[in-house]
Amino acid sequence: MLAEDIARLHNSELPIGIFDSGVGGLTVVRQIRHTLPHEDIVYLGDTARVPYGTKSPSTIVRFSDEDIEFLLHQQVKAVVVGCSTVSAWALPTLIKKYDLPIWGVIMPGVETALSVTRNNRIGVIGTNATIRSMCYNRSIKARRPGARVFARACPLLVPLVEEGWMNHRVTRIILEDYLQPLLRQRIDTLILACTHFPLLKSAIRRIVGKSVTLVDSAERCAIYARESLEQNGLLCKKRRRHGRLEAFVTDETQRFTSLAQRFLGEPLHSALKVVLPAT
Ligand code: DGL
Repeated sequence: MLAEDIARLHNSELPIGIFDSGVGGLTVVRQIRHTLPHEDIVYLGDTARVPYGTKSPSTIVRFSDEDIEFLLHQQVKAVVVGCSTVSAWALPTLIKKYDLPIWGVIMPGVETALSVTRNNRIGVIGTNATIRSMCYNRSIKARRPGARVFARACPLLVPLVEEGWMNHRVTRIILEDYLQPLLRQRIDTLILACTHFPLLKSAIRRIVGKSVTLVDSAERCAIYARESLEQNGLLCKKRRRHGRLEAFVTDETQRFTSLAQRFLGEPLHSALKVVLPAT
């Protein structure tokens, strides 16, 4: 281990790094800020190359490697992969390569789903790449072989949320089309396996009814992050102030900052445009 890695591992006052393909990962930042209000956060949204959900696995791995390198240059103490698509395809590679705590959003979603399902019939919705990875099917079945997983790619939902069409009739029709096949399979739990989907919770709830539990992976991921920071002695010790949030993007900042509040639940006054180092 390099001296700088050791120093990082022992510096609880450093920020947590969080990255995503774009603005959606701010739903994860929102949960982390709620659960860990004193922590400073450095966020990177790769807005120049979003969406990742339509890309090939090797491109997703390469992009996420560049994202994490950028965060390491910001001296973060740990990294949260806010993007479900990256968590699905690149997390094991990143964990193997980098010597600091790295968490994704898949396992928190899987464990929550397994703890709430009563009939072991679990639905999953995400991007094309996330669903194609089969990572939810594999992880759920490895933990509970008798469980059934019904996964559906819902690529149209990301642009609809970015358009602010969460309660639009077009979104309702598309959601019905996506969700009816899962409901016919009598799922009682639905994992929202994409950064943007927490914003559709009430629209989804209206279609699936009260008997289906919606699993927001970001909520559980934040609890994981707190537990893991605590175990590693990395919880920020300063209790007096609200943690800072510094945001970086790879394309122009205006669209990002104007969309940010919807995902973050609080205004984001500024972001900085950066060029990522190639790995
Ligand atoms: N952040 C992505 C995810 O959670 C959605 C947007 C994209 O396709 O890049 O899977």
